[in-house]
Amino acid sequence: MEPELEKLLTDFRDRFSAEPRLFLAPGRVNLIGEHTDYNDGFVMPFAIDRHVLVAGKLRDDSIINVRAMDLDEEASLDLRAQPVKRRGSWLDYVEGGIRCVEQSAGAKLRGADLMISSTVPIGAGLSSSAAIETAVGHAILSLNEIQLDRKALAFASQQAEHEFVGIRSGIMDQFASVFGRHGHAMLLDCRSLEIEYIPLPKEDDVAIAVIDTKVKHNLASSEYNTRRAECEKGVEIMREYLPDITSLRDVSRHEFERLMGHLPEPIRSRCRHVISENERTVTAAEAFRSSDFVKAGELMSNSHRSLRDDYKVSSAELDFLVETAREVVDVFGARMTGGGFGGCTVNLVGAGSVEELRSVTTAKYSKRFGFAPDFYIFQASSGASELTV
Ligand code: GLA
Repeated sequence: MEPELEKLLTDFRDRFSAEPRLFLAPGRVNLIGEHTDYNDGFVMPFAIDRHVLVAGKLRDDSIINVRAMDLDEEASLDLRAQPVKRRGSWLDYVEGGIRCVEQSAGAKLRGADLMISSTVPIGAGLSSSAAIETAVGHAILSLNEIQLDRKALAFASQQAEHEFVGIRSGIMDQFASVFGRHGHAMLLDCRSLEIEYIPLPKEDDVAIAVIDTKVKHNLASSEYNTRRAECEKGVEIMREYLPDITSLRDVSRHEFERLMGHLPEPIRSRCRHVISENERTVTAAEAFRSSDFVKAGELMSNSHRSLRDDYKVSSAELDFLVETAREVVDVFGARMTGGGFGGCTVNLVGAGSVEELRSVTTAKYSKRFGFAPDFYIFQASSGASELTV
C-alpha cells in the first residue's frame, strides 16, 4: 500500500474511530490546448499519478466533519444550513464539491466524516483544486449510495469552482480528473464533450517532463476571469459580421483575419491565440497519433509563444524554463501548462536527454532565480475511483 494511503487510513481510524471507504481523483497536465476549453475548443490533457485521496464514513446526521491532513486543519459544516461561499480557504473546494453534487443529484445527502490528503503539488497549475472537488464529490455520493453520471460529477466540480471558489474555469481539469485513462492523453472537444484517447509515447522512447517554477503570481484568478470576458467580447463584436457564431470555436482563421480590423486590442490578440491554439491542438493530436514528435514539439513551442505574446498569461520564470529547455538537444518542444502566471512547463523530450534536461534547467534556473525548480516525470493515470484495500 502506498505510504500516504497507509497514513490516511491510520489517521482516520485514530481521529474518527471507524473504518473508512477510500476515494481518489488525480491532477492533470495539459499537453496543448490552453485557454480554449471555455471557448468551446479543444484541449489535450492527461491525468497524472498524483492525486487527492479522501477517506470517508457516512454519518447519521447532516454534518460534514473534514480534516485536511496535509494542513493539519479541521472544519465542520451542516448540509442543512445555508452554504458558505468564497471564504478563500481550502474549505471552499470541499464545501463546493459537496453542495454542487448534492444539487446535481437532486437528493438530500447525509453528512460524513472525511479526511483528505493530496500528492498533487499545490498552486503548480496541475489542477489540485479540481482534484479535491472531484474526489470529495465522488466520495460523498458513493457514501450516500447515489449513482451520478460521471459527466455530471465533472460539471458539478466545475460549478464548485465557479460559485464557491470564484474562478469561471472551463471543463478541462474536471474532465481530465474524472475521465483520465492509464497511458493515454485525451483529446477533448469541449463543445461536444467527445473524448478521443491518444496513447502517449513509451517512456523509453520519448518522455514528458514537467518542470515546476514554484512561483504562483496572485493575479492568476482575476486575470483568468478577465481573459474569459475578453474572449466573450470578441465573439460579441464578430457576431455582427458572423451572426451564427456562439463562441471563438466557430471562427476560422480566415474569418478572423478578415475581421480582425474590427477588434480593438487586447481583444484581437486574445482571439488570435484561441483560434490558432484550437488549430494547433487538433494538429498536435494528429502528430501524437502518428508519433511525429518533431511536429508535436514544434506545435507545443508555438503554443507557448502565443500564450506569452498574444494571451499574455506566461511569466518570466515560465519563459526562462521554456527557453532553457529548448537549448537541450532532443527537446522537441516546451510550453507553459495550465492557467499560467506561474506553475509548470511541459516538455517533450527524447528519453536519452531527460537527465540532461533536468540538470541544465535546474542549474540555470537556480542561478537566475535563487532556488531550484521541481522536476517530474508523471505517468498518465486513470480518473476518479473508489479504492479497495
Ligand atoms: C485552468 C482552468 C481550465 C483551463 C486552463 C487554461 O486550469 O481551470 O479550465 O481554462 O486554466 O487552459
